[in-house]
Amino acid sequence: VTAPDLAGRHVVVSAGGTREPLDPVRYLGNRSSGKQGYALAKAAAARGARVTLVEANTGLPDPAGVDVVHTGTAVQLREAVLKAAADADAVVMAAAVADFRPATYAPGKIKKTDDGGAPTIELVRNPDILAELSADRALPGQVVVGFAAETDDVLANGRAKLARKGCDLLVVNEVGERKTFGSEENEAVVLAADGTETPVPYGPKEALAETVWDLVLPRLRERTT
Ligand code: PMT
Repeated sequence: VTAPDLAGRHVVVSAGGTREPLDPVRYLGNRSSGKQGYALAKAAAARGARVTLVEANTGLPDPAGVDVVHTGTAVQLREAVLKAAADADAVVMAAAVADFRPATYAPGKIKKTDDGGAPTIELVRNPDILAELSADRALPGQVVVGFAAETDDVLANGRAKLARKGCDLLVVNEVGERKTFGSEENEAVVLAADGTETPVPYGPKEALAETVWDLVLPRLRERTT
């Protein structure tokens, strides 16, 4: 039996990978399946929280008892997350958000040309939702959690990212064959702004989800009701 230790709380979780359209048939995307974010949302609901899950392109069924908002691009995901965050006790950004999007959208399919050349795609920066959530907390004491998917110098990059983004917790996971993107398992170190580091051994994404909420719990603001 799960203790309802998040009862009375509203938490927001983002999941999946944004797709940035190039033309009517193509997009820039990433390999996020949404499994880690869904595991977080389901775990929070089981612990009694009201959960808003903002997903992008996961194709996963809506979990029972969770409010799901479906989005596609980074700009759409940002809007939905900021709206839901307005009265949230905690926000967890597990989504893989594209850092860049094509500068222009071609209304017709981009065609090959006869000269054998290839088009150049100009990119522009997307908003950094996690940095924005951390800098402009919707409520005093709102807990903001980020994820970092790293391929090398995992911990050093994670520590630098925690400082740069300004969130309370950063879940650092290394990109690998049997973990992180797409798999059922994950392995991580959760870095806290107060300097504590919690390693989470290789195991189901559900186990990492529980550890994240265990670490969020003591950081939640005092109840006002
Ligand atoms: O979905 P799964 O297949 O289960 O895989 C899970 C996962 C690997 C996607 C997840 O565990 C994970 O690591 N999510 C973050 C992936 C990522 O791309 O991280 P990042 O290092 O690019 O971004 C760092 C943080 O900033 C993330 O919390 C991200 O949501 C956020 N971000 C990034 C870019 C941006 N423009 N806005 C953001 O808010």
